[in-house]
Amino acid sequence: MRTIEWNDERGSIMMIDQTLLPTEYKVIECDNLASLCEAIKSLRVRGAPALAAAGAFGIALASKLSSAQTMEKLLEDLKGAGKIIKSTRPTAINLEWGMYRVIKATSEAYDLDGMHDIALSEAKRIADEDVEINKRLGKYGASLLKDGDTVMTHCNAGKLACVDWGTALGVIRSAVQEGKDIKVIACETRPLNQGGRLTTWELMQDNIPVTLIADSMSGHVMRNEMVDKVIVGADRITEDAVFNKIGTYNHAIIAREHEIPFFVAAPISTFDFNGWEGSVKIEQRNPDELRYFRGQQIAPEDVPVYNPAFDATPMEYIDAVITERGIFKPPFLLDEVRS
Ligand code: MRU
Repeated sequence: MRTIEWNDERGSIMMIDQTLLPTEYKVIECDNLASLCEAIKSLRVRGAPALAAAGAFGIALASKLSSAQTMEKLLEDLKGAGKIIKSTRPTAINLEWGMYRVIKATSEAYDLDGMHDIALSEAKRIADEDVEINKRLGKYGASLLKDGDTVMTHCNAGKLACVDWGTALGVIRSAVQEGKDIKVIACETRPLNQGGRLTTWELMQDNIPVTLIADSMSGHVMRNEMVDKVIVGADRITEDAVFNKIGTYNHAIIAREHEIPFFVAAPISTFDFNGWEGSVKIEQRNPDELRYFRGQQIAPEDVPVYNPAFDATPMEYIDAVITERGIFKPPFLLDEVRS
């Protein structure tokens, strides 16, 4: 199944629980806002484009659960739900993008029933479009990869981070589909190991050769000419920086030092057309993610912890941003991307 989808029979959201992979594959159901917010906060569903779908389906769910008898009241309920969902994870702009696109669409309905219908159909459209967008973006990106390349990636920007196909891993999938022999080096991505748990799992499912390394090994592998290109996803792109999983910045600096091309693959919905590096709130996560590993204590219980989920990589370290509208080589103006 897709990473996240709407179940028509049950009138609820179904998603793969990513906290359990790779040891357990389980599909869970969210039939109320609280369970959806919990799923987003605890990363059962994660990755910027998947969060866009989660936000969009969240509004559809809020519409279904609302008892509003007027259009004004329903719109108010949807905006209220939007505020609650948005507060779960502040950095990935796609979450709010998905929600507000659905809310805006409902505001164009003629009656209450129309609002409910539009909420669900627009959310489904966002999910379907995500797959198409990733495939288009993947084709553009594949032109940057040569037969025989080894590509390093960080975190999980694959089908699990999207509705399907993936952004960074979508580029790799598209290149493989074109017959290119591509090998992947997946960085573990501490502290929550999305690279070790999810990227390796989904690439192995597709028989794409992947080797797992600890994050601290990326300098060693790049210096020893084991990496031809780096491709990562993004949670937000401003004119001056790319926000992605913590550790991305380190890889970008090392790649530049060794003249290894560093690419970002992301849909247009990841662009923050009004923001700049300083305006973006970086999510700070629970200190216990560093003090414990899967329930096992690995640091003194009361050690102070700093645990930002994302970092910013200045645009000057990025050789290309791959989108569904083509490849943009920095420096570029966001107006070029928007048009
Ligand atoms: O905290 P996560 O797992 O949601 O972080 C995900 C990432 O940083 C991904 O690289 C990013 O969302 C791009 S996914 C196509």
